[in-house]
Amino acid sequence: MNNSSKLHFFILILFIVTGCNKSKNIATNTIESNSAEIETKIDSIISLLTLEEKVDLCHAQSKFSTKGVDRLGIPEIWMSDGPHGVRAEISWDDWAYAGWTNDSITAFPALTCLASTFNPDLASQFGIALGEEAKYRKKDVLLGPGVNIYRTPMNGRNFEYMGEDPFLASTMVVPYVKGVQKNGVAACVKHYALNNQEHWRDKISVEVSDRALHEIYLPAFKAAVTEGKVWSIMGAYNKFRGEYTTHHELLTNKILKGDWKFDGVVISDWSSAHNTKEAALKGLDIEMGTGTDGLGTTTANHYSQYYLANPFLEAIKKGEIPESVLDDKVRRVLRLRYRTNMSNNQSFGRANNKEHHDVARKVATEGIVLLKNDNSFFPVEDNVGLTIAVIGENATRSMTKGGGSSELKPKFEISPLKGLQERYKNAKIVYSMGYGSGASVYDQVLPSPYNADSLKTEAIKVAKTADIVLFVGGLSKSHLQDSEGNLDREQFDLPFGQIELLNDIKALNKKIGFILVSGNAVEMPWIDSVDGLLQTWYLGSMAGHAIADVISGDVNPSGKLPFSFPKKLQDNAAVSFGVESYPGVELKKDNKNASLNLESNTPVSPTQEYKEGILVGYRWHDTKNIKPQFAFGYGLSYTNFEVSDITVNNNTDSFTVTCNVENTGQVNGAEVVQVYVGKPNSEVERAIKELKGFSKVYLDKGEKQSISITIEKSDLAFYDESISDWNLEKGDYDIYIGNASNNISKKLSITIN
Ligand code: BGC
Repeated sequence: MNNSSKLHFFILILFIVTGCNKSKNIATNTIESNSAEIETKIDSIISLLTLEEKVDLCHAQSKFSTKGVDRLGIPEIWMSDGPHGVRAEISWDDWAYAGWTNDSITAFPALTCLASTFNPDLASQFGIALGEEAKYRKKDVLLGPGVNIYRTPMNGRNFEYMGEDPFLASTMVVPYVKGVQKNGVAACVKHYALNNQEHWRDKISVEVSDRALHEIYLPAFKAAVTEGKVWSIMGAYNKFRGEYTTHHELLTNKILKGDWKFDGVVISDWSSAHNTKEAALKGLDIEMGTGTDGLGTTTANHYSQYYLANPFLEAIKKGEIPESVLDDKVRRVLRLRYRTNMSNNQSFGRANNKEHHDVARKVATEGIVLLKNDNSFFPVEDNVGLTIAVIGENATRSMTKGGGSSELKPKFEISPLKGLQERYKNAKIVYSMGYGSGASVYDQVLPSPYNADSLKTEAIKVAKTADIVLFVGGLSKSHLQDSEGNLDREQFDLPFGQIELLNDIKALNKKIGFILVSGNAVEMPWIDSVDGLLQTWYLGSMAGHAIADVISGDVNPSGKLPFSFPKKLQDNAAVSFGVESYPGVELKKDNKNASLNLESNTPVSPTQEYKEGILVGYRWHDTKNIKPQFAFGYGLSYTNFEVSDITVNNNTDSFTVTCNVENTGQVNGAEVVQVYVGKPNSEVERAIKELKGFSKVYLDKGEKQSISITIEKSDLAFYDESISDWNLEKGDYDIYIGNASNNISKKLSITIN
């Protein structure tokens, strides 16, 4: 090293060392993420790195980490799933759990529940708490949130995402991301993009119009990038227009890094990179999970053989890929370090503390949705002499286990039965499992070891002794249920013989409250048999307490559905267009004779066309006049609200809806006022209405408040394919104000000139 590079080196070490001082005061400081000073430091580091060291920064060294540069004090990067809790430690080189005894955490509710709260402030608290847990576990990147759009109820991973509406998902993802990143932990929004089903996820090629892409499938990612300033994003497994999404000219180079000016890191999904040149030139920065077979003892499939490892190095050496491409990636991964483990502004982290459990419980209680409540079945009072039969496997089954990469190892998990037993001190609680669903195993269905008839007989016996029945059923986190894998759900109705069991219980003439534990809609031909129905999602550590809070009336439910529940599967837009739309078809070589081949899980090249275009979820139900079982935005309360004096004020760039909301019932509660906008006589196809604003208002009984919701006019633009840009049409717009997409109190109109 000559004198000038020695000096350079010394200054660099000084920079790095001073950059590593931790400050605990995360609340008042924002992390300096992009300062010119840091960019200068990054330049000087790049100039010191060898080609090999630079390439090493762009791929995994283990299942969940990438190398640092020891001699310069540059740390490794450690990542962990997932969207609603920090996953247990995984082995260095395979998917097995490492078996640590100090890696248990708080399991927060899954993101469908977070979305149902319609409460961005809670999304912020969720993000902060989750980021603290990630920091405590020494993670630099948290692999979440997921914001893929709920396109069909069959997608096994819907429970990890934020529903069917791009505005709701965008509104909730921004505070989540900011909350996580306040700790000096990067959020990693996933899966970019169009990973809307698990079926054939590794191979399916999605065909979707530019308009639906920009209006439905990209907005939440865009919000995470441009407003949330997310520091990393994960590619998806699937293809879009024949090209793998993880390295994609249009999605990654043009839209993400070009139009949205994303300056963070694109991380592959675990084995979603497919080719060195594509990965290098089409935007991938860190390659993860491509597969190895053993701790560096073999050479054939080692980390050094990743597409962005030796083959990348060779291509640069041969001049096939310019070094500047590598330098751009290195700049991004160093920037990631300055934002996370080399930031002078990190939290120390904490896990399993009371505040985090409180956040988990609050999100869980606010996210539970009351769907039916005939004759005020709920709340159930804790009366002496009352016998409550709790029936159903989901009353005791762990719902943090299973589901794929979002599986968690919480320090504890309160089951619904336990929560009810702790809450009800006067009433008598009796329990019977009723049905059995089998074990949670990745990519396999393991049948229940119990005899179905005996379970049913026993449950009927128990139900007979009770005054009311709480049926705790739904789906599970097993393969073919709410679960990640290469297949989606196979049935829309309730599995495991639950319908028969429910009918038999109904025949006893009992009042039944159904506690639906699922991350997806299910068919409800049995809806008339139940008096009350609560949608309770996957709620994590505090599940049972939250469910008991709502059933007992300690908390008045205020959750609203983040996706539609179709009556029949055929009523879902994607499904209604047949197999070419969902789940896709295998393209024959001549390309003419497309055929469905569900039997084979390894089709050559399956493809699908999103034929419903922009009409996803309630946009479809509304516009085609297909009544859903339960509509997007719907959810009941134990009190009543009256929305009155609704007016709209048309300003220059925005308009403001103002109204009074009054709690006219007997208990305190919260209502979500929702503003939808439609454009009659549009030059393009439009949904009747689309959510553009909402506000959750908390009111004591008898209380009345005035609220206003302001909407930017630019948010009413449609994506105009003829100019490849947004286009705000002039003319009249309909403004719908209500408390569900199918319950509108008033329709007003404004004109945009
Ligand atoms: C999932 C990702 C996850 C990754 C690492 C993949 O199979 O699709 O969501 O973050 O594994 O576990």
